[in-house]
Amino acid sequence: MRIVTSATSPTSVACDLLAVAVSSPVELTGAAAAVDTALGGQLSQLVERGEIRGESGQVTVVHVPRGGGVRAGRVAVLGLGRAERAGEEDVRSAAGAAARTAASVRARTVAVALDGLPLDAAAATRCVVDGIALGGYRFDRYRTGPASKRPPEISTLTLLGGDRAAARRGGVVTAAVNRCRNLQNTPSNDLGPEQLAERAREIAAAHAGVTARVHDERFLRRRRMGAFLAVAQAATAARLIVLEHRPARPKSPEVVLGLVGKGLTYDTGGLSLKPPRSMVGMKFDMSGAAAVLEATAAIAELGLPVRVITVAGATDNLIDAKAVRPDDVVTAANGKTIEINNTDAEGRLVLADCLHHARELGATHLVDVATLTGAVVVALGDYHAGIMANDRAWSDRLVAAGERAGEHLWPLPLHDTFKRFMRSEVADLRNSSTAGKGGASFAGRFLQEFAGEGPWAHLDIAGTSDVETTRGDYFGKGGTGFGVRLLVELAESLC
Ligand code: BES
Ligand code: MN
Ligand code: ZN
Repeated sequence: MRIVTSATSPTSVACDLLAVAVSSPVELTGAAAAVDTALGGQLSQLVERGEIRGESGQVTVVHVPRGGGVRAGRVAVLGLGRAERAGEEDVRSAAGAAARTAASVRARTVAVALDGLPLDAAAATRCVVDGIALGGYRFDRYRTGPASKRPPEISTLTLLGGDRAAARRGGVVTAAVNRCRNLQNTPSNDLGPEQLAERAREIAAAHAGVTARVHDERFLRRRRMGAFLAVAQAATAARLIVLEHRPARPKSPEVVLGLVGKGLTYDTGGLSLKPPRSMVGMKFDMSGAAAVLEATAAIAELGLPVRVITVAGATDNLIDAKAVRPDDVVTAANGKTIEINNTDAEGRLVLADCLHHARELGATHLVDVATLTGAVVVALGDYHAGIMANDRAWSDRLVAAGERAGEHLWPLPLHDTFKRFMRSEVADLRNSSTAGKGGASFAGRFLQEFAGEGPWAHLDIAGTSDVETTRGDYFGKGGTGFGVRLLVELAESLC
């Protein structure tokens, strides 16, 4: 999708679909008023008759007659909800509704007038690009039949009154989010550890200043990554993927942002097997890895002057004669021994060694992103990801980046009291708690044992990585690419 900004008036922009926004109670001003006048008062009539109400999610499509005073083929009036409450997420959702409308009327060229939006030009641009690009996403890799039967993709998005820099940035970031969603939505039979590694190599090949290193099981053994290996020993493959973004002139040379992602291309639970209903959807267990890889690609494409080291631990959690057994004790790369009492708590084992590796490579400020626990879904639902951190300022910075990005974080405790549940009779730690309390925090506290010195935050995205029940926003079902936008914002905040 090409994204352009323009100062053309809404009535003279040529496109298949022109979108203008109104809030409730409806007042036709700015672009909406200009379009209304050009259409001979059609919009104000619909307002008077109570058809256009400005309610959030409402879309009213008006066809423009030939020679009808507006050059667009159709006008979509988008509702933003109550005027005093409408904010960034409402604009994203309204733009998402516009993208769905564009698909249903088979519009290829879409223009959006930004002047009716309750945001400044840069913020309006960002949110409309998010809503259109993410709301228009479809995953049809496995759909057979002629492509002509499917709604066309939007080829050009014109932002009337848009901010050019914000549009360019938005285009880069949303493309990265949608690539992340493609990786997430691709099932395990087509996306295993090696395919994730291949994507990392592609990212490095596409960006000067980015290098990729891909390690296999032999490297894990040499580095004594016994925790990662415990999961990988029954897997189809294991890849420790490292991307490094080294800008020529970093703003703060002492800061090395470390991004660590959980890349379980499938999680059956292992010998602590998941029941069938809980297993479905576990292709999404690589969402953290996909997010850190594609965020790194976007950071490089934007040329952000911050050093980034990205580490993704890719493998799958399967059953095999070689599979790690409950009761087994392994030694992580940092020397700590772990009794594995539940093989389904595999993500923390992989991350333990990846976090340690990121520190070894020089990361000063760490963030890990992982679909780590069902407990975080119970606690926070599917709109907020859990954040647990060892440093208040670092946590606040991530939460703020998330708010700007439209990816919401909510703090959960990371307290030493959770160490009680980590005690093992035979090893330094055990990987799962039997207490049935605070599962997300337990997992976070476990990771802290491997996060080393310096700021570190853990994002548990098990609830937000994919949408199972539509939320009425700009995301359809499937992978959301959660983390990509937030991590780019975070990187920008360090520049
Ligand atoms: N990948 C799962 C977490 C998960 C659950 C992600 C639901 C998305 C939706 C993780 O590896 C897992 O199995 N966690 C266990 C931990 C338990 C065994 C301590 C869980 O949450 O049940
Ligand atoms: Mn698991
Ligand atoms: Zn898992």
